[in-house]
Amino acid sequence: MQLKSATQWLLPVFVLAARASVANNHQQLYKRALEVSEPSYPSPWMNPDADGWGEAYARARDFVSQMTLMEKVNLTTGVGWAAEQCVGQSGSIPRLGLRSLCMHDSPLGIRGTDFNSAFPSGQTAAATFDRGLIYRRGYAMGQEAKGKGVNVLLGPVAGPLGRMPAGGRNWEGFSPDPVLTGVGMAESIKGIQDAGVIACAKHFIGNEQEHFRQVGEAKGYGFDIAETLSSNIDDKTMHELYLWPFADAVRAGVGSVMCSYQQVNNSYGCQNSKLMNDLLKNELGFQGFVMSDWQAQHTGAASAVAGLDMTMPGDTEFNTGLSYWGTNLTLAVLNGTVPAYRVDDMAMRIMAAFFKVSKSIELDPINFSFWTLDTYGPIHWAAKEGYQQINYHVDVVADHGNLIREIAAKGTVLLKNTGSLPLNKPKFVAVIGDDAGGNPNGPNACGDRGCDTGTLAMGWGSGTSNFPYLITPDAALQAKAVQDGSRYESILSNYATTQTKALVSQANVTAIVFVNADSGEGYINVDGNMGDRKNLTLWHDGDTLVKNVASWCPNTIVVIHSTGPVLLTEWYDNANITAILWAGLPGQESGNSITDVLYGKVNPAAKSPFTWGTTRQGYGADVLYEPNNGNGAPQQDFTEGVFIDYRYFDKANTSVIYEFGHGLSYTTFEYSNIKVEKSNAGEYKPTTGKTASAPTFGNFSTDTSDYLFPSDEFPYIYQYIYPYLNTTDAEKASADPQYGQTAEEFLPPHATDDAAQPLLRSSGKNEPGGNRQLYDVMYTITADIKNTGSIVGEEVPQLYVSLGGKDDPKVMLRDFDRMRIDPGQTAQFRGKLTRRDLSNWDTGVQDWVVGAGEKTAFVGSSSRKLDLSAVLP
Ligand SMILES: *[C@@H]1O[C@H](CO)[C@@H](O)[C@H](O)[C@H]1NC(C)=O
Ligand SMILES: *[C@@H]1O[C@H](CO)[C@@H](O)[C@H](O)[C@H]1NC(C)=O
Ligand SMILES: *[C@@H]1O[C@H](CO)[C@@H](O)[C@H](O)[C@H]1NC(C)=O
Ligand SMILES: *[C@@H]1O[C@H](CO)[C@@H](O)[C@H](O)[C@H]1NC(C)=O
Ligand SMILES: *[C@@H]1O[C@H](CO)[C@@H](O)[C@H](O)[C@H]1NC(C)=O
Ligand SMILES: *[C@@H]1O[C@H](CO)[C@@H](O)[C@H](O)[C@H]1NC(C)=O
Ligand SMILES: *[C@@H]1O[C@H](CO)[C@@H](O)[C@H](O)[C@H]1NC(C)=O
Ligand SMILES: *[C@@H]1O[C@H](CO)[C@@H](O)[C@H](O)[C@H]1NC(C)=O
Ligand SMILES: *[C@@H]1O[C@H](CO)[C@@H](O)[C@H](O)[C@H]1NC(C)=O
Ligand SMILES: *[C@@H]1O[C@H](CO)[C@@H](O)[C@H](O)[C@H]1NC(C)=O
Repeated sequence: MQLKSATQWLLPVFVLAARASVANNHQQLYKRALEVSEPSYPSPWMNPDADGWGEAYARARDFVSQMTLMEKVNLTTGVGWAAEQCVGQSGSIPRLGLRSLCMHDSPLGIRGTDFNSAFPSGQTAAATFDRGLIYRRGYAMGQEAKGKGVNVLLGPVAGPLGRMPAGGRNWEGFSPDPVLTGVGMAESIKGIQDAGVIACAKHFIGNEQEHFRQVGEAKGYGFDIAETLSSNIDDKTMHELYLWPFADAVRAGVGSVMCSYQQVNNSYGCQNSKLMNDLLKNELGFQGFVMSDWQAQHTGAASAVAGLDMTMPGDTEFNTGLSYWGTNLTLAVLNGTVPAYRVDDMAMRIMAAFFKVSKSIELDPINFSFWTLDTYGPIHWAAKEGYQQINYHVDVVADHGNLIREIAAKGTVLLKNTGSLPLNKPKFVAVIGDDAGGNPNGPNACGDRGCDTGTLAMGWGSGTSNFPYLITPDAALQAKAVQDGSRYESILSNYATTQTKALVSQANVTAIVFVNADSGEGYINVDGNMGDRKNLTLWHDGDTLVKNVASWCPNTIVVIHSTGPVLLTEWYDNANITAILWAGLPGQESGNSITDVLYGKVNPAAKSPFTWGTTRQGYGADVLYEPNNGNGAPQQDFTEGVFIDYRYFDKANTSVIYEFGHGLSYTTFEYSNIKVEKSNAGEYKPTTGKTASAPTFGNFSTDTSDYLFPSDEFPYIYQYIYPYLNTTDAEKASADPQYGQTAEEFLPPHATDDAAQPLLRSSGKNEPGGNRQLYDVMYTITADIKNTGSIVGEEVPQLYVSLGGKDDPKVMLRDFDRMRIDPGQTAQFRGKLTRRDLSNWDTGVQDWVVGAGEKTAFVGSSSRKLDLSAVLP
């Protein structure tokens, strides 16, 4: 626990501001006093009566009560970077028969292994607007994780939410709309956990860009900053936008949450008590455990009392062999800095999450090593110790290929169609562009997919998995053409201009141009993009390619693979461009999925999960690419509040190319007959009362000699993190240069308090997700949707609401459904409006309040096609 960071939240504003102003000579110094995060202590302990957690709590209590202090510490502390097989592992509890728990990426598959699937991205799944499909995706990923021995799958993602369209990791999550992301979170979590694996909602919170998320990483691209980026988010925006999908995650019973690298209000995500203690554990009633992002922990005792429950991968920095916890946490309990109840609560939360999804502590062994695909190797990878079989190459793909094909097809958005689609035995298909073909070095040629060569089917970074195969658009479209007796040629380059012109100028051609734009995580730089995209245009001169083909061919179809919106401004309205599709990041079945859509085997119904603006500036908020606070923490003020994506465009009243929620079908739908049913939800009753006082489970001795390494023969592994002491001299064992500071000296007031605490009015008594009444249905809105075309189709009716206040967005998505409707038939859409849906966060009352403004419900086929409306009585 470093003094520097421990006192971080206590530094008065003026000290921080002074620090900023004397910082270096960077021109654009941050002008105002830096935002601070209010302290919130003590860290909430689990609630034995929490809905959905009762049995898990009881089993955890029985288990944790038998654990020694060192065993509890072992469970909370990772064993170090690359110390075992998974991307992160906890210490084990051999005495009680629990093996080390495996925490492993990613939100779209199992990272770095073999014989696993590569699923469509979260963003592509979101575009389906199909709860059932998102659940099935989660379940299938959970099954694959389980089959490899993963205990915690590190996803799904609601941070980034997608504040800035260039944000590098937006594709890992769902959508800048909090309701759509909330549904994506809840369904994914239920799916993963129903398969017997703990889900991890990440990154909590305000983790909207890659630049400056880590100090060392920023050095790598030329910026010397002392602290990471601070996302400065006001309380109302936090609740109404960024926290919203995390509330849905907690309500869905998520077992773990990952705190983020960057700071919020100049306090690190993994030691910010306002975020973890107050918002997550008090207000949302989160019962699972908070784990740090990898190297996102910066303090020992301070992070413990601020609500962190598990440190990953456990070492202070990769492979130091030292830890803020491990030995230090054992010592901190022994010397009274961290209260024993806090470590008990950490262990309780981890074990309760475990028992919530697992029947037995007898786990099958982990049967892969993330660090190599070799069959034999050192099981302790960093230490190069324990040579044995480490990969069993277990095939976990089952029939997931079919599901992947279905999700990607059903997540492909038909943005434009002037009649060329669906294709029907076209005479001649010409496929153009490097995005239609493979990577000549193989689909997994670039580590963590850190390149943009060949067709783009996932972004880059830790949010990836290896492809078991990758069906390219070229392969699938050629197979279909051959089957149909069509002529087929492809040019898998964006730069074969002469040949392309010659080909697409021929008679009877249907030209399909594939283009892309990639992004990913900040530790990989692809073509000067440090995770975040440096622009919103297509890569590899895609615009030139599209414009060229369209100038020669009157039937040009464009397919875009991308990690978010790209600017289509220069060509979307060209009459020769007869169709535009956004195929997102489709995963391993890419070619089959797009073929299904182009040929009408799947009638498209996906809706864009973000807005396609005409300019980059049109989006408002943007990535901060250069530090703005000297060498202090770059400051990112979320001054636009809740106005991101369509809410911003609506507020600015600017035209867009394709709005949020837009997506066409090969049939047509007519909306009519909106009706409002009011439910008798009753008055809102704020929660009152108190928690119990902090429980402890089991005893511990305070004699340091009971905590030494078990024996001289103990098989100490190089750089491994243990809970033990090297010597009975606590100060020496700690090796903490500041050893000896007491809790009173450096922890905030109440940090070690174990007395009963008042419940928040907005929190539930026992309901994860917040006060149960927030989810009471107040209105049900119905509308008739008629399929007015001649083929069966699916439609996603969307329910929006206007809250009627002067600071409220014009409209906000609140509910949707994906419905299959036969030609000529009418189906009834039913959308719900809960109390939360109709409320604003009142910063004074500190609760959700239904404001006085007149409220209107809208039903339509996109955020800007809202033909039906009704004022709520
Ligand atoms: C204990 O934590 C401090 C930082 O707070 C660190 O310097 C020290 O190396 C750690 N000790 C061990 C044994 O990991
Ligand atoms: C950040 O500061 C703003 C403005 O002072 C405040 O409304 C908000 O609650 C703070 N958030 C956190 C997490 O400290
Ligand atoms: C802590 O975990 C390590 C690694 O799994 C294991 O070797 C050790 O025995 C565990 N210690 C205790 C006290 O359970
Ligand atoms: C992994 O494979 C090994 C060897 O086939 C097997 O013993 C083990 O049970 C498997 N683990 C899981 C989690 O299925
Ligand atoms: C093929 O192109 C020729 C020349 O433009 C045209 O006469 C013919 O109708 C086209 N056939 C089809 C099937 O498009
Ligand atoms: C945008 O970035 C991509 C990828 O680095 C690059 O290929 C392209 O040339 C850039 N566009 C512009 C207009 O600079
Ligand atoms: C459309 O294609 C034709 C060739 O068929 C070409 O002459 C014309 O200029 C193109 N139009 C545009 C707007 O590019
Ligand atoms: C929005 O823009 C349209 C056309 O650009 C204009 O007609 C309309 O009055 C504007 N609405 C508001 C509220 O400014
Ligand atoms: C503890 O002992 C081990 C084994 O002798 C040694 O490698 C390690 O550096 C020691 N740790 C500290 C913090 O002194
Ligand atoms: C207690 O132990 C922790 C962890 O090693 C250390 O940082 C702290 O200074 C110690 N406090 C006292 C009062 O000894």
